[in-house]
Amino acid sequence: MTLSEATKARFDREVAKYPAEQRQSAVMACLAIVQQEQGHVSADAERAIAAHLGMPPIAVHEVTTFYNMYNQQPVGRFKLNVCTNLPCQLRDGETALQHVCKKLGVEPYGSTADGVFTVQPSECLGACADAPVMLLNDRQMLSFMTEQRLDELLALLAAQPK
Ligand code: FES
Repeated sequence: MTLSEATKARFDREVAKYPAEQRQSAVMACLAIVQQEQGHVSADAERAIAAHLGMPPIAVHEVTTFYNMYNQQPVGRFKLNVCTNLPCQLRDGETALQHVCKKLGVEPYGSTADGVFTVQPSECLGACADAPVMLLNDRQMLSFMTEQRLDELLALLAAQPK
């Protein structure tokens, strides 16, 4: 995969935030840029980032796979991460995940056939007191997601214009 000049320029703006000998520190930002531009981070993209930052591809892959926010394959327009970590589990986190999956007819990590939704379990999102908690498109935290609120959310998202 060849990075476009525009993408390289974006990478270099991130690299410039760190001392010259620590350009690898920009790896998370570069992964985020690729995901923003392509929707997910492919193995090819990881190799391109590794080459640009002068680090082993496996080290980039370790970062991609450590964080839920990086998509290793294409995801739906709305990515729903439902927290199933222990504190949420104690307050219906798993029930919330199963409810969303059942409503959308997908398994965890699955996407709807129309490409609108992807559902994933998530580790702690740092808002345990608001359980059940979920994250929409890696950006918007949603709290106290009872089945009623989940139903309202899914209906709202499904009605969004394309
Ligand atoms: S366990 Fe779900 S937000 Fe912390």
